[in-house]
Amino acid sequence: MNSGMGTCPNFLFSRVMGSKDMDDNRFISDRLIRWYEANRRDLPWRETSDPYLIWISEVILQQTRVNQGLEYYYRFTARFPSVRVLAEAGEDEVMKYWQGLGYYSRARNLHAAAKQVMERYDGRFPSTREEVLSLKGIGEYTAAAICSFAFGLPYAAVDGNVYRVLSRVFGVDLPIDSGEGKKYFSRLAQDLLDERQPGLFNQAMMEFGALQCVPRSPDCGCCPLADKCRALAEKRVDSLPVKAGKTVVKPRYFNYLDIRHGNTLLLKKRSGQDIWQNLYEFPLIETDRPFSWEELQETADFRALFDGIREVRFLRVREFKKHVLSHRVIYPVFYRLEVSEYSSGMAAYLQVSDDSLETYAVSRLMQVYLEKEL
Ligand code: ADE
Repeated sequence: MNSGMGTCPNFLFSRVMGSKDMDDNRFISDRLIRWYEANRRDLPWRETSDPYLIWISEVILQQTRVNQGLEYYYRFTARFPSVRVLAEAGEDEVMKYWQGLGYYSRARNLHAAAKQVMERYDGRFPSTREEVLSLKGIGEYTAAAICSFAFGLPYAAVDGNVYRVLSRVFGVDLPIDSGEGKKYFSRLAQDLLDERQPGLFNQAMMEFGALQCVPRSPDCGCCPLADKCRALAEKRVDSLPVKAGKTVVKPRYFNYLDIRHGNTLLLKKRSGQDIWQNLYEFPLIETDRPFSWEELQETADFRALFDGIREVRFLRVREFKKHVLSHRVIYPVFYRLEVSEYSSGMAAYLQVSDDSLETYAVSRLMQVYLEKEL
C-alpha cells in the first residue's frame, strides 16, 4: 500500500461539504461520485442508455479487461447493432465474433437471450429487473447493471471491484465468495446506493475499484475515502477482501528425527486425517514455528522420547526450504542422531534395518531425504 501523500492529479473533492449533517453512507457515495466525475474513463457504453448495448458491454467485461474488451465491443456491436440483428444471426457467426474472448457459453447465452427478447417482447428489451433476470445467462450483477444504467432503476451492481471497495471501506472480512459474504455485501452496496442516481453510483463504484482501490498497492495517500476507510485505519488494506476459496495456508514445521542405533532406525505408520495417511515416517515433533536444535531438545515430546538414554550423538541436520502440498506448506528439518540404545519412549516405533527400509511406503519428502542420506 502506498500511503504517501503524493500529488493527486484530478483529485477533486471538497472536505467542506456539509458532511456533518450527512449520514456516512450519503457522504461516501457523494465522494465516490465526485471522484468518478473527475477521473472516469470515456467508454462507449457509458455514452448510451440502450440496454442492448449495455448488456453486450457487461457480458464482455465480465471476463475481459476494459482495454481488450473495447475492441470486441466495437466489432460485435458494429456487426450486431440490435437485439434483432443478433437474434437473426447464425450461431457460428456469433461465435466467430466472440473468438478469442473465451468463456464461449456466454456468447451462446447472449444469442439465446436475444431470441428470447424477440419472442417474448417482440424485440423490445425488457425494463424490469425480474424480466431482465429471466433472460438466459443474466444473473444478479448483470441485471442490476443493465437496469441501473439503462433505466435508472435503484439496484446496486456488485462485481469484483465493488467487493474490494466495500470490504476495505467498511473493514469487512467476510469471504466474498461465501453465501453469507455475498448477502452481506449486496446489502451493504444497496444501503450505500444513491437512489437518485443509481447508474452513476454503480459506475462510480466500479471505476473506483478499477482505478483507485486496486487489488495491490493502492495509492491510499491519494484516496478520497482515506479518512473513512476502516481497512486503512486498521492497516488491513492488503488483506482485504477475503476469499474463502483461497484459505491462508498455515505453515507447519516438521522436525524429523532420524535416530540410528547400529544399522537400524525408527519408523512409524502415520495415522490421523491430515496428510500421508498410512505412510511411514521417522519420529516427528511438529512445532508451530521453526525450532532450533536447542529448543527442540527442551520440548516435552523430545524428553519423553529420549528419556533414559545414556548417550545421544548429534550427527547432522538437513533443512529443506519448504515442501508444498495442495493446501499445505511444510518446513521440514531432519536431525540425524545416534543413540546408545533405544528408550522405552521409543517402543511405539518400528526398528527397521537399513536394508529393509525400501519395503516401507514413505512420503515423497521422506524419500527425497533417504535418497540423499543413506
Ligand atoms: N466492468 C464491468 N462493468 C463495467 C463498466 N460498465 N465500465 C467499466 N468497467 C466495467
